[in-house]
Amino acid sequence: MGKIKAYQEKSTQGKVRLHSNESPYNNLPLLLKELEPSFSSLNINEYPSLNADALKEKLAQTHGISSENIIVGNGSDELITCVMQRFLNPNEVVVTHSPTFSQYAWNASLLHVNLIEVNDKSNYVIDIDGLIEACNQNNAKLCIVCTPNNPTGALISYHELERLHNETSCFIMVDEAYLDFVDQNYQSFVLSSSRMISLRTFSKAYGLAGIRFGYGVAQAEVIQMINQVRQPYNVNAITQMIAQGSLSQRKLIEAQVQSILTNKKLLMGALEDCGCTLAPSMANFIFFSHPSHDLIEKTLWDRGFAIKSFHQNTLTPNHLRISIPNDEDTKTLINVLKGIKI
Ligand SMILES: Cc1ncc(COP(=O)(O)O)c(C=O)c1O
Repeated sequence: MGKIKAYQEKSTQGKVRLHSNESPYNNLPLLLKELEPSFSSLNINEYPSLNADALKEKLAQTHGISSENIIVGNGSDELITCVMQRFLNPNEVVVTHSPTFSQYAWNASLLHVNLIEVNDKSNYVIDIDGLIEACNQNNAKLCIVCTPNNPTGALISYHELERLHNETSCFIMVDEAYLDFVDQNYQSFVLSSSRMISLRTFSKAYGLAGIRFGYGVAQAEVIQMINQVRQPYNVNAITQMIAQGSLSQRKLIEAQVQSILTNKKLLMGALEDCGCTLAPSMANFIFFSHPSHDLIEKTLWDRGFAIKSFHQNTLTPNHLRISIPNDEDTKTLINVLKGIKI
């Protein structure tokens, strides 16, 4: 346990938060208006619905599946832990690509399992052949793919996921936290197999990071297996109600996603003009490198923007990641970038 590090974040008080891939939009006022009077009459002295039944039903309708195919979590972070706990015993092998979301490695340490990381190919491409080989050579029990990947934004194709599945025998967890920013999803394939789950979150496109809600989609038998390790009442009553309400605002969420994608294009242009090298990101953030990454990060911080640095990872020297802000902050950011003398 000595080596495990608690998740840390420096204070971003007073800064525009562009370091966590959150949504720049806070839809709470609208949601509260829509949810009244049910919200005021919530019985918060009672435990919430154990399986978040009404929310699962609405999610099922939204995605054209059955509620038996859904598991709910206190953020998808919790579901990552549940899946890894359920499919891995101490000393067994889990394979993932690198760089990727840090919580897989954190859970692997907690569970005393062996994490094998397959480095991306050039231009941030996830190495599917490398993943297949690592799974097969090491008798992996679990393979994790993050697509679009955090932090690079790389996406694997439907066909690549099929290959990963068909050419291995382990369970596959597909982390689709950024699913709403791309046209592609793997749902029909995931539901065709008893060795797959797709994890999603309301922390990104839906703008609900503060109330923690994530869910998984898989065959009913897989959901039952993972439910065995899920904490009872893990999704609180307020979250259940607000997440359900936000499913009725899909048009608004889609419009917000479109604004984010438009601002992403503008910001990509400004970063390129500064001489940055950009990864082809398919999500609500841009991963890029520049020899003067420190100067860029410091200038943005001094001008009120918190972004995330990855330069300490040996695979990503000089790299930074920036989440896409709203229109006004995008304009300011572009002006700040124009003023940086590099
Ligand atoms: C790839 C990926 N998966 C999962 C999560 C966690 O999401 P949640 O807020 O639902 O726990 C994140 C958050 O940044 C992420 O980037």
